Amino acid sequence: MNISILGGGGFLGRKLAAELARRGRLGATPITGLTLFDIAAPPAPPGAAFPVRAIAGDLAALPEAAIPPGTGAVFHLAAVVSAQAEADYALGMRVNLHGTLQVIDACRRLRESAPAAAPPRVVFTSSVASFSGGQGASLPDDARQVPANSYGAEKAAAELLLGDASRRGYLDAVSLRLPTIVVRPGRPNRAASSFFSAIIREPLLGLPAELPVAEDFAAWLASPRRAVDWLLHAAAMDGAPLGLDRGVNPPGLRMTVGGMLAALEAVRPGASALVTRVPDPEIAAIVGTWPAGFAPVRAPALGFAAHEGFEDVVRAFIADDLAATRAERGLAP
Ligand SMILES: NC(=O)c1ccc[n+]([C@@H]2O[C@H](COP(=O)([O-])OP(=O)(O)OC[C@H]3O[C@@H](n4cnc5c(N)ncnc54)[C@H](O)[C@@H]3O)[C@@H](O)[C@H]2O)c1
Repeated sequence: MNISILGGGGFLGRKLAAELARRGRLGATPITGLTLFDIAAPPAPPGAAFPVRAIAGDLAALPEAAIPPGTGAVFHLAAVVSAQAEADYALGMRVNLHGTLQVIDACRRLRESAPAAAPPRVVFTSSVASFSGGQGASLPDDARQVPANSYGAEKAAAELLLGDASRRGYLDAVSLRLPTIVVRPGRPNRAASSFFSAIIREPLLGLPAELPVAEDFAAWLASPRRAVDWLLHAAAMDGAPLGLDRGVNPPGLRMTVGGMLAALEAVRPGASALVTRVPDPEIAAIVGTWPAGFAPVRAPALGFAAHEGFEDVVRAFIADDLAATRAERGLAP
């Protein structure tokens, strides 16, 4: 099978490409080629036993080579993420909505040129930010998507259009409403959710971190390993049981900040002392609209794996990303 990853140079795109290279298969089907597309040509994953093609370009002017003829699965991860899409309305709309329309059009053209071929599976990374509800929420699978920011609105709109394109047979979409992914490697960034990763990553690097919300603040989280595993399952699963409803709330993990810090302390005693409470009402207001919990029933029934505990999330970050993050930031090993 030929696979494309749009946004293949990003955090999840790189991890997904590495896992595809490691497995060599999507479900039971051998991978015969991988196309990686991003603003800058993404690096090829090490050890791939299949040809990898890296392409640079803009999703909103999607080049044909990004989803070449014969593509069986497309991971559509390319996006302007939450804080940036809120700060720059035009950019968010252009990439997150009009870019997704380009993906649909590319798949439609492929179908029209090869009507006998099965439509490509398109795995779309939607977000919990397409919902609201706040701290008290435990949203059922059929909760309405009422976003509290432009990014969430663009994700919800893209889901709706991908669902219609699936009904028309242009493609075969599965939209995963991903939780906030923790622990993100690298550096703190300006995303409102940045602190969820920083309060684990920075102390493990021996650096201080600020906590802008109270310790009883809860969030719906997933680890990078679990997110990649869900993406691969979404690409390989039988789509028939989804029917017209192509959106899936995967089984994330509801954690309070205090619970996260307790897990950090259990894995690395003393580390949580590097976290200082510095209230930030602006950040608290943004993350406070996101639903703190879901009650997913459909995703487990569809075979999406349950989430591991948070101590395992911390250990996985140490095993997978700590050394690379130290090197990237010029910190002593
Ligand atoms: N990380 C999270 O916590 C999280 C949570 C929910 C949903 N998601 C979604 O998962 C996906 C991947 O997230 P991530 O954390 O890897 O983000 P990321 O920012 O690391 O990766 C997104 C990639 O999209 C690329 N991109 C942006 N605009 C583009 C354009 N015009 N043309 C081509 N490429 C473009 C970026 O260069 C980047 O490499 C995104 O769709 C995001 O909205 C992420």
